[in-house]
Amino acid sequence: MTAVHDPPVSSVMDAATIPGPAVRPRRLRRTPALRALVRETRLSPSRFVAPLFVQPGRNRRDPVHSLPGVERLSADLVATEAERLHVLGIGGVLLFGLPETKDPLGRGADDHDGVVQVALRRIREQVPDIVAIADTCLCEYTDHGHCGPLAPDGSVDNDRALERLAATAVAQAQAGADVVAPSAMMDGQVAAIRAALDAAGHADVAILAYAAKTASAFYGPFRDAADCAPRFGDRRAYQMDPANGREAMRELSLDAAEGADMLMVKPALPNLDLLALARQRFDLPLAAYQVSGEAAMISAASERGWIDRRAVLTESVTSIARAGADVVITYAAAELAAWIAEDR
Ligand code: PBG
Repeated sequence: MTAVHDPPVSSVMDAATIPGPAVRPRRLRRTPALRALVRETRLSPSRFVAPLFVQPGRNRRDPVHSLPGVERLSADLVATEAERLHVLGIGGVLLFGLPETKDPLGRGADDHDGVVQVALRRIREQVPDIVAIADTCLCEYTDHGHCGPLAPDGSVDNDRALERLAATAVAQAQAGADVVAPSAMMDGQVAAIRAALDAAGHADVAILAYAAKTASAFYGPFRDAADCAPRFGDRRAYQMDPANGREAMRELSLDAAEGADMLMVKPALPNLDLLALARQRFDLPLAAYQVSGEAAMISAASERGWIDRRAVLTESVTSIARAGADVVITYAAAELAAWIAEDR
């Protein structure tokens, strides 16, 4: 029996008798210069996309209280903001619309003078070189808040939604979108949009498919920003069950086969496994969306002084890129770009 006070054997061993490790990874971690030399993942603002919320009016700017630093902007201010982002080197903007009025079909979505279309034309004039991406969905435009027209039983009518989404994508392309990004999770939406764009003479407009988009609780602050929470029920009958990884791969394959030019996994941090798997399986450019709930958690904790905002945002977005995202959609795009410039 050893007494409780007896030191463990190893601590009394002569230090000289312990063989040093043959491999020392710490050698390359010793100085900032060495670490920078061997860093595997580097962030560049050109891979960032900044989401922007367009509202009606002129010179109007309203804060989104659940997303500090994010504002709803009128089209003129959206163009000014796009210009600022372009100067920072940000690759693209992703536009969401807050229409003047909502109705059961979401007519504001494909209206020639709808908020997003107006903003796209302003951006095209003022900032021709930024990639203009339009979110293609109906939930911001429908009075019931679902992503497509309703069937009599209250479910979302998939095939009627396809017509509405296709018309919306064509209106966005006509207004100058480089890329349309269908996010409604309707079956066949990519094929329907591709066919409609081609038929309307927009064969050059690309599709970024929100392919693996889960019915996530992390969208809360976005629904506040875009006023698009469903008035009844939830989105689980069309968005994916977050428990399903194989189904996510199937959704990605379907969208690739339907003609998607880029694929998205969303939300980002809760789905890094899916992103890494997708990177192995698909050669299309991959995007990941660091969604509103991810951004809000970081803002809330850093406001309380519990975490370091800059360090946590940098680490999160670096991890998303490391997992396989070529493109990162993030509310912190401008901040990250400024920090990257500072670090140079
Ligand atoms: C529209 C859409 C949503 C988001 C992007 N497009 C909301 C939703 O599906 O409920 C969420 C983005 C975010 O949380 O930042 N369908």
